[in-house]
Amino acid sequence: MLKYILLSALATLVLTKDLVLPPRYLEDVPQTRVVGGEVARPHSWPWQVSLQVQSGSSFFHTCGGSLIRAGWVMTAAHCVDRPRTWRVALGEHNLDSNEGTEQIISVREAFVHQQWNSNSVIGGSDIALLQLSTEATLNTDVQLAVLPPSGQILPNNSLCYITGWGLTSTGGSLSNSLKQAYLPIVNFQTCSTPAWWGSVVKPTMICAGGRFNSGCNGDSGGPLNCQVGGRYQVHGIASFVSGGGCNVFRKPTVFTRVSAYTDWINNIIN
Ligand SMILES: *[C@@H]1O[C@H](CO)[C@@H](O)[C@H](O)[C@H]1NC(C)=O
Repeated sequence: MLKYILLSALATLVLTKDLVLPPRYLEDVPQTRVVGGEVARPHSWPWQVSLQVQSGSSFFHTCGGSLIRAGWVMTAAHCVDRPRTWRVALGEHNLDSNEGTEQIISVREAFVHQQWNSNSVIGGSDIALLQLSTEATLNTDVQLAVLPPSGQILPNNSLCYITGWGLTSTGGSLSNSLKQAYLPIVNFQTCSTPAWWGSVVKPTMICAGGRFNSGCNGDSGGPLNCQVGGRYQVHGIASFVSGGGCNVFRKPTVFTRVSAYTDWINNIIN
């Protein structure tokens, strides 16, 4: 029987005993920072959010997210399904330096999808919305993500980029600058075959990557940005990777498919 558990030191031990490695989340722990990708041009993904959790008197980057309204951020359910104090950083590039473009806003309330089950990431619905305590100021460095129309499915090999602070450069040194990695879509027809993810992947998910040794993943909750009609839309929310590693052949990064949750999103933010 497969077990789907949060990545931790203990979980890693359990995982190695399983015949088929279960998925793991892409939270900001060193093991999930991966080789591949490149540092993004600063503020070229202006809807990218750093979700930060309070620990003591400090806040730490833990997940990614996307600004979808001036007062709302979209992220993964597994990033915010525990009661903690959160804030978001907008207009960020290097997390360690003050560039003067940042907007730091606390989270008033987290709305986790009612069907999210923290014991079963493969059940899907790994989506949450964060209501901010004040609205962001939109400018060249902070802009709203464009979401796809309800139900839109992109074809195999569509051009997408994952972005996040969880990516590392070749050689494994940690980057505090936002990175991007090219991750083409693997359509459901392909990804749900046994050679890929099989029945783990659901129609409410998107697979991307899994074919190249570079370009793996970024942070949980962060966007899969896909080029549609000459502009980028956020089609996915980073959810999980193989327990065997981030860039396992034919185990693409799995995202929540945003276009499957349009009604849910609209019901909460409108
Ligand atoms: C989708 O693209 C992948 C990688 O190029 C390929 O292996 C697969 O056969 C394609 N699937 C379909 C249904 O065309």
